Amino acid sequence: MFGKKLTVVAVGVLGLSLLTACGNAADSTGGAGSIVLGFSQVGAESGWRTANTKSIQESAKSAGIELKFSDAQQKQENQITAIRSFIQQKVKVIAFSPVVESGWDTVLKEAKTANIPVILTDRSVDSSDKSLYKTFLGSDFVAEGKKAGEWLVKETASASGDVNVVELQGSTGSAPANDRKKGFADAIASASKIKVVASQTGEFTRAKGKEVMEAFLKSQSKIDVLYAHNDDMALGAIEAIEAAGKKPGTDIKIVSVDAVKDGMTALADGKINYIVECNPLLGPQLMDLVKKVSAGQEVPARIETQETEFDQAKAKAALPQRQY
Ligand code: AHR
Repeated sequence: MFGKKLTVVAVGVLGLSLLTACGNAADSTGGAGSIVLGFSQVGAESGWRTANTKSIQESAKSAGIELKFSDAQQKQENQITAIRSFIQQKVKVIAFSPVVESGWDTVLKEAKTANIPVILTDRSVDSSDKSLYKTFLGSDFVAEGKKAGEWLVKETASASGDVNVVELQGSTGSAPANDRKKGFADAIASASKIKVVASQTGEFTRAKGKEVMEAFLKSQSKIDVLYAHNDDMALGAIEAIEAAGKKPGTDIKIVSVDAVKDGMTALADGKINYIVECNPLLGPQLMDLVKKVSAGQEVPARIETQETEFDQAKAKAALPQRQY
């Protein structure tokens, strides 16, 4: 490929899927003269993630950037292995969406020593040394949780008794799970009748969302509201609620985050009551940043995506044009 020798990708033995596994270790711009970007993705846990991966792959293609894509299958150790492999291959830029927030300093220092700029996308890290990465591109997850909580405070303003909430958290230790929990808790703090009676991870997946909701329905005598950190878990929970003979959206109100098509359809159908948007279409902005950092240009330390919220009417209006 590109008339130069192939580089063997060491991470292959760990079962990681490097979709573009060719390149030249000595040429960081790739044989075709394009920028080589090493990207480590979280996995394929949700509709949001699928849309995010598609956006990154398509944008790299149209920007003429050679993408080495690695799927970490939800494991931090796989991401660290992939990043080390990218360093070994001397890619021009490394970007990744960290599975969890902590534990990145060592590998980020290795990238810095190798003079390879790193861009964080979608999720951030908790490193105190901000020089270890060039920029963060993604959402304000605390704000998302806060919007969900504020909606609930308004929605239950006239309720007389306690409002019992069960919470399906995202993957343990991930930035969206930590921040959406915090934002929601902050927003409901002054509404003493709103009580989070159970909170557990549903790992951002439909299957786990369903399983944990089944357990909540057995262990809790009264559930008024489900707060799910993403649509996929809410959709799994809807199956559990229906199987228990209850009506999602009516007997148990549901508020979630993402606004992927399936979630929006459930909102339009009245099975979800409110969704806070989290935009997965980060590819075009990411490729723009990749070009800038590889040219040595300064970029803002943090770039947040513009997002909105949806009620049933807004979801019905948006669905025909929804891309993901
Ligand atoms: O990091 C973004 C989150 O990860 C999305 O909200 C969730 O669906 C995904 O798995």
